[in-house]
Amino acid sequence: VDLQNELDSYKTLVEREIWRYLDSRKEPEELYGPLRDLFKRGGKRVRPMITLLSCEAVGGRKERALKTAAAIEMVHNFTLIHDDIADMSELRRGKPCLHRVYGDALAINAADGLFSLAYEVLCDNYDILPQETTRDIFRILSGIITRVCEGQATDISWSKKHRFDISEQDYFEMLRLKTGALISGCCETGAIAGRGSDEQIKALGEFGMSIGIAFQIHDDVLNLSGSVEKYGKEIGGDINEGKRTLIVIYALGECNPAERKRLIDILDKTGNSQEEIREALSIIKKHGSIQRASDKASEIVEKGKKRLDVLPDSRSKELLLALADYFVKREL
Ligand code: IPE
Ligand code: IPE
Ligand code: MG
Ligand code: MG
Repeated sequence: VDLQNELDSYKTLVEREIWRYLDSRKEPEELYGPLRDLFKRGGKRVRPMITLLSCEAVGGRKERALKTAAAIEMVHNFTLIHDDIADMSELRRGKPCLHRVYGDALAINAADGLFSLAYEVLCDNYDILPQETTRDIFRILSGIITRVCEGQATDISWSKKHRFDISEQDYFEMLRLKTGALISGCCETGAIAGRGSDEQIKALGEFGMSIGIAFQIHDDVLNLSGSVEKYGKEIGGDINEGKRTLIVIYALGECNPAERKRLIDILDKTGNSQEEIREALSIIKKHGSIQRASDKASEIVEKGKKRLDVLPDSRSKELLLALADYFVKREL
């Protein structure tokens, strides 16, 4: 409980910084309205929290990482808007996705504006950090966003090309890009803002990569087994989208030829009925694939946590470790 209160205080700090930027922009409503809508819906804000904590964990004042943290959350939200269009998703943070409320054209534009706003925020790092630090953060984040797009391209292409031969290794390579890179970058940029040593920056980056990968696996678990009220996205959406998740890879590796054919049929088409989604789920569950993926996520988190051994003990390190556990226990 104490831990939770402390984590909340980091979230509040980030929230305030983000709204400082969003509230200072009013017109046109067609751009800022959808963005305020998305941020008002909430969101866990775990990425910026990690950035602040990483800064502190290497001995920096968290204020040094505040702009970077806010910019990272903006980048994350920008990718979500585009991702929902690409995935043809229905719900985001418990409400219809931006493209469903405002249409594709304004949603795409709002996301582009948010991406650009993130870079404006990063420019403000010049006011609070040395030039080289600001430049390093720019370079790292730009590279990361490119990697996210690489991962997204791979993820999207697997369904598009009807690929059912994806190995566990292919999948992990895709996740390192799609989700791991940004969370790893949260740690790295935070540590850089906090003037951490090269060894500390590297260790935190690897910690972030591990927990980021685990975060996505757990998300894919929730997609099939969570509650829509907490998760805020449609349950079973990944089946309809034909996503090659670790769960699906495990299930395809174990099921009999008849089950395999049926599972592939359902994954390969959109507009599945609830009944068809349930059928795919029952094949997946029969082979214990959800539990197996969930166990794998926990194992990855445990390994990742060990990377923080090189950091001196501190409250922020404890909070980072607590967040790592939360990544694979969360229900939202
Ligand atoms: C959703 O990210 C996208 C994934 C990488 C699974 P979050 O689960 O962090 O989404 P919000 O920001 O809390 O809504
Ligand atoms: C989220 O990916 C977007 C990025 C990681 C860039 P997913 O498509 O897997 O996640 P959700 O379920 O829509 O949040
Ligand atoms: Mg998606
Ligand atoms: Mg996606």
